[in-house]
Amino acid sequence: MTAQIIDGKAFAATVRGQVADHVARLKSDHGITPGLAVVLVGEDPASQVYVRSKGKMTVEVGMTSYEHKLDVDTDEADLLALIDRLNADPAVHGILVQLPLPGHLDEALVINAIDPAKDVDGFHISNVGLLATGQKAMVPCTPLGCLMMLREHHGSLSGMTAVVVGRSNIVGKPMAQLLLGDSCTVTIAHSRTKDIQEVTRRADIVVAAVGRPEMVTGDWIKPGATVIDVGINRIDAPEKGTNADGSVKTRLVGDCHFDSCAEVAGAITPVPGGVGPMTIACLLANTLTACCRANG
Ligand code: GUN
Repeated sequence: MTAQIIDGKAFAATVRGQVADHVARLKSDHGITPGLAVVLVGEDPASQVYVRSKGKMTVEVGMTSYEHKLDVDTDEADLLALIDRLNADPAVHGILVQLPLPGHLDEALVINAIDPAKDVDGFHISNVGLLATGQKAMVPCTPLGCLMMLREHHGSLSGMTAVVVGRSNIVGKPMAQLLLGDSCTVTIAHSRTKDIQEVTRRADIVVAAVGRPEMVTGDWIKPGATVIDVGINRIDAPEKGTNADGSVKTRLVGDCHFDSCAEVAGAITPVPGGVGPMTIACLLANTLTACCRANG
């Protein structure tokens, strides 16, 4: 069997189009423009790329983007003071602090300083608790994007067996909560899981979010299962030759070995072009939701 490709890039463009239509109506009918503030501390190259891409898409859907770039050695007190100002600013409906933060900053303290109503990442402890208890929460963007693709592909997920590989607070745990909310039978597998291939091979849905290039191979997958690959890993690709400076060219791969998984799976998300674009689309959707709730 050769898997159907779940086109996250196209789906994300549709979601962004719907967000843009709604933003245009908010502007014309109510004079309201949703605003998203993104805070980046330091100069981590991957984070800079993400922040630039988020800012560009925010403007493309008609929202206002506020970017705050702070020195790598910014004091915790200064960062918290900025968050207080953004919490109090009525033009800012969503606040995102790009992670990881430099080591001297307490990530939990910083995230929990964000007004939960503006926490478009869904990382604040109140939103984590609301999601875990099935209440109306801001839902983390990456797992939300995965759920939307699964619902789009399958319709109802009720009664399906799902295995989430990875137990991070950002993806693994909220993904498991969302799948449970859609009445899947959910297992979280991780680095200490015994016979992990046996566990994943029982699943109708495998979500891989471990940050290890191409770890999940075709023999981990039940024939016909749906594979959602959250990983974005850059690996050396000597077959592509070298750059002008003599360094080896690289390529992006997921946490799943695409070719072998696609041989067995019924459907699979590619990397790039799968989960990544959906994450940003969901960030914009969350910002719109926060703006609508703030304005009754
Ligand atoms: N770093 C990697 N992924 C994310 C994310 O979804 N949100 C934030 N704030 N930082 C990240």
